[in-house]
This record gives sequence, C-alpha cells and structure tokens, in this order.
Amino acid sequence: MPALGFVPIGEADLDWVCAQEAELHAHPWTRGNFVDSLASGHDAWVLTCDGEPAGYAVVMHILDESHLLDIGIVAPMQGRGLGRLFLDWLAASARSRGSETFFLEVRPSNASALRLYARCGFIEIGRRRGYYPGRAGREDAVVMRRAL
Ligand SMILES: CC(C)(COP(=O)(O)OP(=O)(O)OC[C@H]1O[C@@H](n2cnc3c(N)ncnc32)[C@H](O)[C@@H]1OP(=O)(O)O)[C@@H](O)C(=O)NCCC(=O)NCCS
Repeated sequence: MPALGFVPIGEADLDWVCAQEAELHAHPWTRGNFVDSLASGHDAWVLTCDGEPAGYAVVMHILDESHLLDIGIVAPMQGRGLGRLFLDWLAASARSRGSETFFLEVRPSNASALRLYARCGFIEIGRRRGYYPGRAGREDAVVMRRAL
C-alpha cells in the first residue's frame, strides 16, 4: 500500500498542476482559474503517492455544501484506485468541516469519471444543458450529489 499525502496547493505547485491539467483535459482550467480559486479560499490539494505528486483537486465550500470543482490523477497513475481514495479523503475532509452534501458536475462522455463518482456513492440528480464547451458545440453536465 503506497503512502499517501495531501498537501495544500501553493503558488509553487501551479506549474506542475497546470501542466497536468493541460494533459488530462480537452478543455483545461487556465493558470488564472487556479490562481482565482486559491484567492477565493477554495480548498486545493496535491495528492502525493510515496512522496511523488500523483493528483490534484479543488473543492469549494459554501455553508454546509461542498462542490468538487476539479480533480485529476496523473496519467501513469490512473486505474490504481488513487482517484477513489482521493475522493473519499476529500469527502471526509469536507464532512469534518461541517459539510453535509457534496456536489459535482461531470461530462456524460467522461466514462472513467462517471464510474469513479458512482463507486464513491454519488448519484445523478439532474442535467445542465449545454454547460460545457465541446469538440462540436456544447456538452451537457451531469449533476451528482453525495450525502456526507
Ligand atoms: C477520473 C480520474 C480522476 C479517475 O482516477 P483513477 O485513479 O484512474 O480512478 P480509480 O483507479 O480510483 O478508479 C475508480 C473507478 O473508476 C474506474 N475507472 C478508472 N479509469 C477508468 C477508465 N479509463 N475507464 C473506465 N473506468 C475507469 C475504475 O475501474 C474504478 O471503478 P471500479 O472500482 O468499478 O473498477 C482520472 O481518470 C483522471 O484524472 N481523468 C482525467 C481528468 C478527469 O476527467 N477528471 C474528472 C472530471 S473534472
């Protein structure tokens, strides 16, 4: 079992996070999006695996609700259960600060993320039509919720 660590994202991590984001997403967050998130006080974490950065996530908390805004596991480390462990840790962390519900949005075309979220107890509660930019026109968002 690898040793996992959870390190708050700081300015010095942004080059690495942005490089991973550009590799993992067809429509990646910009550096400005991450800077704005940090400035807004969102929770932002690097997941380390045996001391090496393996993933990252951004979570927004509003009163007793938490929203997963972004999550990624570096390509060579995907499919080993890290996404699930990370998401469960983010959920426990949100619960410990008083959140009662965890929300997220995901593209219906993102099969790996949909499967991860379902395995972590998220259920679909609705759709936002044309929420995301897509390769050809817009793509809906699946809105999912998990009680904490
Ligand atoms: C989505 C993501 C975070 C999953 O991380 P991961 O570490 O690979 O996921 P895990 O190994 O914990 O797998 C969790 C579940 O998802 C499934 N899964 C993982 N990769 C998959 C793939 N490529 N296709 C289908 N299912 C997949 C696993 O099979 C597992 O389900 P199971 O327990 O039923 O087998 C990762 O693939 C990723 O970073 N993707 C690119 C960024 C992204 O799409 N982020 C989410 C939207 S913001």
